[in-house]
Amino acid sequence: MGLLQRTKVCGELRSCNAGDEVVLNGWAHRVRDLGGVMFVDLRDRSGLVQLVLDPSAFPNRAEIRSETCLAVTGKVRERAEETKNPKMETGDVEVVVTGYTVLGPSKTLPFPLNDEDQMVNVNEDLRIKYRYLDLRRPSMYRRLAIRSSLINRIRRHMEEQGFIEVETPIITKSTPEGARDYLVPYRLEPGKFYALPQSPQQYKQLLMVAGIERYFQIAKCFRDESQRADRQPEFTQLDLEMSFVVQEDVLQLTEGMLRDVLNAVIGQFGLDKDPVETFERLTFDESMHLYGCDKPDLRFGLQLFDASDAFADSEFGVFRNAVESGGVIRGVRYPGGAGLSRKEVGQLEEFAREFGAKGLATLAFESENDVKGSIAKFVSADKAAELRKLSGAEPGDLLCMVADDYATANNVLYRLRLEIGERCGLRNPRELKFCWVVDFPLVEWDAEAGRWSPTHHPFTSPKEEDLVYLDSDPGRIRADCYDVVCNGTEMASGSIRIHRTDIQARIFKLLGIDEKTQQDRFGHILEAFSFGAPPHGGIAPGIDRLAMALTDTENIREVIAFPKVGNGYDPLMDAPSTVDAQQWAELGLRLSK
Ligand code: AMO
Ligand code: AMP
Repeated sequence: MGLLQRTKVCGELRSCNAGDEVVLNGWAHRVRDLGGVMFVDLRDRSGLVQLVLDPSAFPNRAEIRSETCLAVTGKVRERAEETKNPKMETGDVEVVVTGYTVLGPSKTLPFPLNDEDQMVNVNEDLRIKYRYLDLRRPSMYRRLAIRSSLINRIRRHMEEQGFIEVETPIITKSTPEGARDYLVPYRLEPGKFYALPQSPQQYKQLLMVAGIERYFQIAKCFRDESQRADRQPEFTQLDLEMSFVVQEDVLQLTEGMLRDVLNAVIGQFGLDKDPVETFERLTFDESMHLYGCDKPDLRFGLQLFDASDAFADSEFGVFRNAVESGGVIRGVRYPGGAGLSRKEVGQLEEFAREFGAKGLATLAFESENDVKGSIAKFVSADKAAELRKLSGAEPGDLLCMVADDYATANNVLYRLRLEIGERCGLRNPRELKFCWVVDFPLVEWDAEAGRWSPTHHPFTSPKEEDLVYLDSDPGRIRADCYDVVCNGTEMASGSIRIHRTDIQARIFKLLGIDEKTQQDRFGHILEAFSFGAPPHGGIAPGIDRLAMALTDTENIREVIAFPKVGNGYDPLMDAPSTVDAQQWAELGLRLSK
């Protein structure tokens, strides 16, 4: 039996097609055999349409089960007024079936993919094991289509801006981005390994030495690091690099591209999002000071306040001691939080402790300067007025304060601010609030390793005017390094690179990378820089995270066709898996017991 090829797709049928003879191809989404009549919702990727079968004409109709793949011939007819279904795009019509062919019968399904409400409860590992079924769901198809449009529009935009796409190797040498490498054993010389790229960072810099000037790539990156809701071991970046530019050029290009592309995708799919507007700009220091983190959610205010001076001579020992020992007292306002019960305030304190706080001091403004809460007895009317001014508290608000070192207080309050924003309904899902965070410190002290480590990566350029601190106070050096942040998530990260070998050598020295290691790991790039290297810089937005923002998904797996589950495992392919003894032998590998 030859294939009965479609003349129409399911989702396009409307009243104007009434009377048409059509051939449809698709899957039985929902099957209802009522005895006197049988209804089947036929689905292809364009949508659903209702089929009507006369049972007496189709004695074998029981073979049509959920997800049977079908070719159907039939005649479109307008439904009777009372049976029209306004929830279905094709709900004004149905197709009266004159014949069908089963193209692919289906076994009983592992989950009811025609019921979105029930799918929410299906174990995710099971969904991923049967991803080819999971992806049949219209909601999943839509996410992949949005992702596809995002990537295509990026490619178009970049080419219009004079960039060319260059593919760089996947089996290569380690490039440091702060994670473990995935290694690939080299058969011809046992004991040697390729590494999968954590990013194309070194190649793109070499492409600038090569005179490409404007490079981009939709690049696969591989990082063996612990997974989170926005992290996969294998993910995709829009990787880009430009020559003869300063930081401002990269910022302008990137912002223009992101706004143009995202707004076009929002328009194309009618997404429930306001247009992306001009990105705000914050320095790293400002961001830490105002939001306690380097990835602020700017959809709402609730900026942190600093009450260290106000409490420097407090009768509350914890506060006074904190300030005396060089710490801070910082806080965040909880709008309407004065009404919380004692238990609820206790839960907030628990929350703060989870992130390292030693306690949570609270002050509720019942009215103008009438305060209650765990530290009320230490707060005079004058102090209360001062705190109101510092924090912007209104009657009915609750102030939550933490006394600790600057970093700990910030980390706790950063989390608490998000929690309060969430509870107060301030994280509006319609908004994509982008900002730049710039002027990151070049290095941070790694107490565990007892040395300086790069905040971004070792190729990031220090600000020229801060080079004077290289020997005396490295923590003070700011870098030409920038992040794009949206709604509290880091979307992209980039920097102007060091293109002078002498400065690169000084930075390697600062990072404790000795000459031999420099040569072994980066000899190729250092040598390249000695042949007329142009000044250059770039950035890499995460495609998966952009797709998440567009599709309102909380987990990165929802925007990846074939993701890994929590432990890096792929339940569909059963990977990683064992290999046969001959392969071990060929690679010169042995399992040590
Ligand atoms: P960075 O390591 O900051 O920079 O990565 C850039 C962006 O890539 C995305 N990203 C991830 N997405 C999903 N899963 C992961 N495990 C993951 N890790 C990173 C994020 C992040 O902002 N070579 C530099 C870029 C440059 O300097 O040009 C780099 O890779 O969205
Ligand atoms: P205490 O005097 O220990 O009962 O603490 C009084 C209040 O101060 C409680 O609400 C504690 O949670 C809070 N508190 C204790 N230590 C800190 C701290 N380091 N920062 C903020 N609040 C604290």
